[in-house]
Amino acid sequence: MTIRWLLCCSSFWAANQRQFSDAIARRDLERYRTRGPDATTRLLRDAILRAGNGKTVLDVGAGIGALSFELLAAGAERMTAVEPAPDYFASAHEEVRRRNLADRFELICGDFVAVASDVAEADVVTLDRVICCYPAYRPLLEAALQRSRRLFAFSYPRDRWYVRAAVAIQNLLRALRRNPFRGFVHSAREMEALLEHHGFLRIERREALKWSADLYVRADAATDLRASA
Ligand SMILES: C[S@@+](CC[C@H](N)C(=O)[O-])C[C@H]1O[C@@H](n2cnc3c(N)ncnc32)[C@H](O)[C@@H]1O
Repeated sequence: MTIRWLLCCSSFWAANQRQFSDAIARRDLERYRTRGPDATTRLLRDAILRAGNGKTVLDVGAGIGALSFELLAAGAERMTAVEPAPDYFASAHEEVRRRNLADRFELICGDFVAVASDVAEADVVTLDRVICCYPAYRPLLEAALQRSRRLFAFSYPRDRWYVRAAVAIQNLLRALRRNPFRGFVHSAREMEALLEHHGFLRIERREALKWSADLYVRADAATDLRASA
């Protein structure tokens, strides 16, 4: 397994580390081991498999690595997972070794916006529930799109009043507890416009009460997808 630490010291880094603590990482790993992937992870996995999994996958904001493990189990050959929270990173590392996947896994600890230029392109790039943890969706999406050779899959909170209200209440409670982490509901329409501007076409959208899970294909790879359908 290749491991890289590309540390930084922004206020995002500190807040993210506080939110995704050792307790949260252990809870998520235990839940994944006992119950399998959460709903958004299943939606993204299934959409990617319907479009034809890639040989190489880049999982940005991998957490404990649930989507990475699902796509490797479904036939992907190599995985690069980028995760800035040290406790999530440690749990992903533990699970990679437990599953004997070290020779197919590269783990990078860092903020993807800061480290993207050091990360190789992949057939499939994923962000599962990541964009809502980062204040600026634009540089994060652009960095991810530049690394995708074919598919781009991401899940994000739906741009609805009740989701915005719930996230605002969560942020208020965090402020009262002096937790600097904040959640964000970015505009779905603006994100879609950005994706289209960078030459990606949406081929699937599945929506649950809170989450949307979208799959995009690079326009110049869309004919291959239709041919193999
Ligand atoms: C809610 S967790 C989701 C983890 C995992 N993708 C999942 O769905 O279980 C959000 C994740 O996004 C990561 N994240 C947020 N901003 C990031 C960035 N700029 N670069 C890489 N990861 C980021 C956080 O560290 C955290 O692991």
